[in-house]
Amino acid sequence: MVAKRGVQQASVRGRRVLVRVDFNVPQLPNGQVADDRRIREALPTLDHLRTAGARTILMSHLGRPGGRRDPQLTLRPIARQLSGMLGQPVPMATDCVGIEAIQQTARLSNGQVLLLENLRFHSGEEANDPAFAAQLAQLGEVFVEEAFGSVHRAHASTVGVPKLLPSYAGLLVQREIEELSPLRTQPQRPYVALIGGAKVADKLPLLASFLGRADTLLIGGALAHPFLAYRGAPIGGEALTPGLQKALGEFDRRAEETGTRILLPIDLKVEIEREGKTEVEIVPVPELPLGAIGQDIGPATIAQFIEAMQGSKTVFWNGPLGRTEDARFVAGTKAVLDGLRSIPGHHIGAGGDSARAVRELGVSDAFAFLSTGGGAALEYVQGVDLPGLSVLPDA
Ligand code: 3PG
Repeated sequence: MVAKRGVQQASVRGRRVLVRVDFNVPQLPNGQVADDRRIREALPTLDHLRTAGARTILMSHLGRPGGRRDPQLTLRPIARQLSGMLGQPVPMATDCVGIEAIQQTARLSNGQVLLLENLRFHSGEEANDPAFAAQLAQLGEVFVEEAFGSVHRAHASTVGVPKLLPSYAGLLVQREIEELSPLRTQPQRPYVALIGGAKVADKLPLLASFLGRADTLLIGGALAHPFLAYRGAPIGGEALTPGLQKALGEFDRRAEETGTRILLPIDLKVEIEREGKTEVEIVPVPELPLGAIGQDIGPATIAQFIEAMQGSKTVFWNGPLGRTEDARFVAGTKAVLDGLRSIPGHHIGAGGDSARAVRELGVSDAFAFLSTGGGAALEYVQGVDLPGLSVLPDA
């Protein structure tokens, strides 16, 4: 593990500390924060800075406004939420750069916290424009990276600014590295990866990264469809293009070579039209009606997946095993994660949908650690070098 120089080592009293946080949180239609986990997880670093007498300036993106100001994507509701959580007012700067931001940051006193408006209202953020990075860097004297969910992005706030200021990793970023790096280097074996979710094209690099590293790979969710179709199941879902067929063939060849055992669903919950009514049925995979779409895994698959995790020392989970946004199809994911609760070992989960599912299903105690990263955590576990981490000095 390459540990990064931590915020604990920074001298911050009376200094303007520019902290990149990932407050890209789910919101209700009225803008209210629907899940404050990413904010809560940043609190230890914010408390550390307050206690140490820093003048804290927070910067974050929210959504994908594409370089234009979008009132729907203002960070104002997040400033309100954070004020309540910190027990002190958190004023907002109406822009993340410019004269008003400069004046507000200059007026901060020790222990105060200011939130800048959405970074992605400026195209310079995603383009990593050096002039925009310089404008941001001008607001602070020290930089702290606390946005683990964004360290896979080479943007002005994640890469440009840390090149211009003395930089440190926040407490959450340090913990994420500590928890996730054994998975990419030396996981305790037997190591089982349980992967669900949707798009195979997006997830194939992640799945392939487990070949030879994990002992068993369990694949569920819509992701399993192309694998099942490739093996001749009469299943629908993502089309098996020639390119995908080739990639799946290569995947199978490498699985064979490396000895990683691959398990796919053996039964599925499907919707079947009967006399004008839609019914949900559990069907063994070989007996699926032609072109059927599995909405969840069935009881035989649940039992097989739980059995495969018995005796493991490490389990990594990402992605629901069914369409959990529909209450009829949560049972598979819930049962497998419930099963995981009674299996000893180190269990780590990652991904935005996965964290939401864990919370909604009430199974967070199945995990020793749930990453706040989505794409960032998956790339990190795959062994990809993340630009927002590489740029930080090592410990
Ligand atoms: C996330 O939610 O994964 C991060 O905030 C990154 O967001 P992005 O995919 O829009 O860059």
